[in-house]
Amino acid sequence: MDSIMLDIEINGERRTIEAAPNLMLIDLLRDGLHLKGAQVACDAGVCGACTVLLDRAPISACTTFAFVADGRALTTIEGLGANGALDPVQEAFKAKSAFQCGFCTPGMILLAKALLAENPSPSRTQIRAHISANICRCTGYQMIIEAIEDAAARMAAAAGGQ
Ligand code: FES
Ligand code: FES
Repeated sequence: MDSIMLDIEINGERRTIEAAPNLMLIDLLRDGLHLKGAQVACDAGVCGACTVLLDRAPISACTTFAFVADGRALTTIEGLGANGALDPVQEAFKAKSAFQCGFCTPGMILLAKALLAENPSPSRTQIRAHISANICRCTGYQMIIEAIEDAAARMAAAAGGQ
């Protein structure tokens, strides 16, 4: 099968990548680029463990062909934070102990990033609805909801201080 050339901005860095036309995005990220933060659990678009942001919108990398990202911007968990500091959402998850095994955590954090980018002050109902896209088998979700509320507060405080 002939390969294709992809031009993708990944975590702020433009990359030219040769790929098979039927390569799945999760395989490009994990095997091709060694970005292992996106996890594989169901491999069927159900659990959200493989969530990444494509042009800031959450998608399941396990059910998305790599070519879909051509000419677009991808964000993985490795792209959060700057200068050695965690992103506010990562800080909030840490502060609220919003993970146990951590398998769902990269996807949950990216899901939260997408929500807060669109709605900086979501209600608890809105948070619940938004994160219902992803499955966590450990936490019971309450700590994740509290972490997202905490992240919203951190981001509002940071914006107010600018
Ligand atoms: S591993 Fe992709 S949605 Fe479950
Ligand atoms: S922390 Fe284990 S699945 Fe969410």
